[in-house]
Amino acid sequence: MNIIVTGGAGFIGSAVIRYLIQNTEHNVINVDKLTYAGNLASLKDIERSPNYVFMQSDICDASHMDEIFETVQPDLVMHLAAESHVDRSIEGSAEFIHTNIIGTHTLLEAARKYWQKSQKEGFRFHHISTDEVYGDLEAHDPAFTETTAYAPSSPYSASKASSDHLVRAWGRTYGLPIVMSNCSNNYGHYQFPEKLIPHMILNALSGKNLPIYGSGQQVRDWLHVDDHAEALFLIATKGKLDETYNVGGESEKQNIDVVNTLCTLLEELAADRKPEGLNQFTDLITYVTDRPGHDQRYAVDITKIKTDLGWSPKHTFESGMRETVQWYLSNQEWWQAVLDGSYQLERIGTTTGEPEAIHIKEAAE
Ligand SMILES: NC(=O)c1ccc[n+]([C@@H]2O[C@H](COP(=O)([O-])OP(=O)(O)OC[C@H]3O[C@@H](n4cnc5c(N)ncnc54)[C@H](O)[C@@H]3O)[C@@H](O)[C@H]2O)c1
Repeated sequence: MNIIVTGGAGFIGSAVIRYLIQNTEHNVINVDKLTYAGNLASLKDIERSPNYVFMQSDICDASHMDEIFETVQPDLVMHLAAESHVDRSIEGSAEFIHTNIIGTHTLLEAARKYWQKSQKEGFRFHHISTDEVYGDLEAHDPAFTETTAYAPSSPYSASKASSDHLVRAWGRTYGLPIVMSNCSNNYGHYQFPEKLIPHMILNALSGKNLPIYGSGQQVRDWLHVDDHAEALFLIATKGKLDETYNVGGESEKQNIDVVNTLCTLLEELAADRKPEGLNQFTDLITYVTDRPGHDQRYAVDITKIKTDLGWSPKHTFESGMRETVQWYLSNQEWWQAVLDGSYQLERIGTTTGEPEAIHIKEAAE
């Protein structure tokens, strides 16, 4: 197959591409604009594969999308390109509306025109979304299922909910062969340091505070990115058309427990890198004003993907977190380049000039 992966230079997209190149014979075409979240260094392991091509492009650029579909003649599109960080969506929502809604619409139209013209047998469009479209839960509510009503809380989740509706409508109205998935919080290697887990690991190593929103009692389900990549390929190729599959790690944790787990792992794995004068990593924990509209709990019921597609997560929270902490300890070059902004020099056409250090908010999730 020829597989277009949008957002393939991002955290999950790069895991999907590494999975496809390392486990299948398919051709992978990475379509990514390279925003601040795109990092080609995450694809170093596979960038020389003859089955891999990178095309720098904006999914909102209709004529370029048409051209890419015409050139690539894809059998499958895995659509991950998005603005993905809730805090950034609260500070400025326009880019989220533009990329997540207009961009998805543009891509759907390119796919529809290509599919109607080529009549490509077996063509599929897989849209990747979030469990945040379902809103939040009280402590004892049952987990989200695929039929839970949408009730997004943030500009980010509202824009993703809109994109989900568009994809479903293109399936229903035009018969475009679509399949969708909604997943919980991903974690693992190559995650941008503005997200909770890498942010806390890197702050701890440099002796900075570990700022936690509100009481830290918000509950999230944690899914290892490699488990997710495997699930996505299964959904894309074997999922029933017009259906949605929830994907989760069966690891519900309070944010404060996640941070405490990280501190315990760092005590064990990074004792020699503990900043001078620090007694224990947990001493760095501080509490800051909660994020506006902060959802209390997300939890996903993954019975459907387990029963229908035979998938379940391979990582436990404990094994995945240990692996993740070890990865950040061993891959300073990757994250240092993100923190000082030099990773941006990888961007095609911007190999000159001074990179800007990335602005990361004090607290993270
Ligand atoms: N990270 C999570 O925990 C999580 C959870 C649920 C759902 N998701 C969804 O999974 C997808 C991938 O998430 P992620 O964490 O890898 O995101 P990310 O922010 O790490 O990566 C997004 C990628 O999309 C690219 N991109 C952004 N705008 C673009 C545009 N206009 N055209 C082309 N490329 C563009 C960026 O350059 C980047 O490489 C997103 O759709 C997100 O909503 C993520």
